[in-house]
Amino acid sequence: MYVCVCNGVTDRDIRKAVNGGVRTFKQLQQATEVASCCGKCASCARDVMDEALDKQRQPAWQIALVPA
Ligand code: FES
Repeated sequence: MYVCVCNGVTDRDIRKAVNGGVRTFKQLQQATEVASCCGKCASCARDVMDEALDKQRQPAWQIALVPA
């Protein structure tokens, strides 16, 4: 889904950026330009980024136990 309509940034783009090493919202903005125009997407973008970061912090065995 599109998170940032102004810059065409999707939730997939954000997860990909996190998988590529992004750890802060500023880094996410530099990587994707999310929330750099009207800014209305900032809250949603942070939520998607935090979710992606949380997933990375989970041990692999826990991810396997979480239902899809
Ligand atoms: S919707 Fe993301 S900057 Fe406008």
